[in-house]
Amino acid sequence: MKMLNAAIIGGGAIHTCHVNALRQMPGVTLRALVDIDSERGLKLAMAYQCRFYQDYREMLLDSEIDVVHICTPHFEHKRMILAALAAGKQVFCEKPVGMNGGEIAEIAMAAQNAPGLLGVCYQNRLNPTSQRIRRELAEGDHGRMLSIKAVLTWSRSGAYYTQSPWRGRFATEGGSLLINQAIHTLDLMQWFAGGVTRLKGVVDSGELADVTQAEDSAMATLHFTNGARGLFYASNCHTTDSPLLLEIHCENATLQLFDNALWRIKNGERIKLVSDASPNGAAKSYWGLGHQHAIGDFYAALTDPDKADYTDIREAGKSLTLVEAIYRSSQMRQWIEINQQ
Ligand SMILES: NC(=O)c1ccc[n+]([C@@H]2O[C@H](COP(=O)([O-])OP(=O)(O)OC[C@H]3O[C@@H](n4cnc5c(N)ncnc54)[C@H](O)[C@@H]3O)[C@@H](O)[C@H]2O)c1
Repeated sequence: MKMLNAAIIGGGAIHTCHVNALRQMPGVTLRALVDIDSERGLKLAMAYQCRFYQDYREMLLDSEIDVVHICTPHFEHKRMILAALAAGKQVFCEKPVGMNGGEIAEIAMAAQNAPGLLGVCYQNRLNPTSQRIRRELAEGDHGRMLSIKAVLTWSRSGAYYTQSPWRGRFATEGGSLLINQAIHTLDLMQWFAGGVTRLKGVVDSGELADVTQAEDSAMATLHFTNGARGLFYASNCHTTDSPLLLEIHCENATLQLFDNALWRIKNGERIKLVSDASPNGAAKSYWGLGHQHAIGDFYAALTDPDKADYTDIREAGKSLTLVEAIYRSSQMRQWIEINQQ
């Protein structure tokens, strides 16, 4: 098996999920940590016994680096992806891959012409409950899907925004709740139903209005390509990080995601199918437990192209399209046509 060397750009909150995943992978070494904050970066590089770079462009000149993980603020994603692909690296980027449709188009063009692959981290697709929902919908004989309801209520403090001031601003985050937290929920909804044709949404800011320039709460009605309806509500103003509540109502059955477990209600019976409980409690449960799987799938594709099963730029663009459409709908107070397949 080919040995691969990785570098992580950005040593903030999410990077430990990448470090932990890389540690579990035979044949993969964390070779470099990059952070613009040299004090933080040096400390981490010493702990990981790897090289430290303050400037990611210097790291890209390091011919020993094969794979670049991007764990930086959203406004940095596009230029870092383009530079890493141009340097011939493989790239695994945290969501969202860019901040808007224009950036996605530019990145897609670069990815198409680059020798390296670009994968995006949508780890919640790999949760056992998500995988089982897809299987139930494909093979479960549950009849036509009628609707999907999703409720995401998390807690983000003022300190969360002041500690990383890029958060909560259109210029640096591309929005707030929708593009950072709820993008996973929108992605799952469209993934389960197979795309969105139109939506109408509203964003607003209440409890966190003093610390964010963008929304802290949002709701939307969606029409899916398969004819089903979607109801979506999300907020960062709860006082705890509640597990995602999701319900899929089909003609002959209802699937319920409740407290990280998937239930099926059919023929008068409510049966627990599978749960996402962490075996080791390694990651914050609300991030989902799939980083290791998502990163593992991407590396599998690098060593064996026949195993290519990761979220690529096309897939990653779908949820971002929904995020943008909700912002636009809220501004214009009207339905937005999307026509996703
Ligand atoms: N997949 C998930 O569930 C999940 C969860 C949390 C965060 N994320 C994503 O991870 C990314 C990072 O979020 P975070 O919460 O870890 O952010 P953070 O603010 O905690 O950390 C960002 C780090 O990047 C560094 N940085 C900033 N600009 C840089 C530059 N030009 N060069 C090198 N380093 C730079 C900062 O110094 C900081 O250490 C975002 O895209 C976010 O949406 C994903």
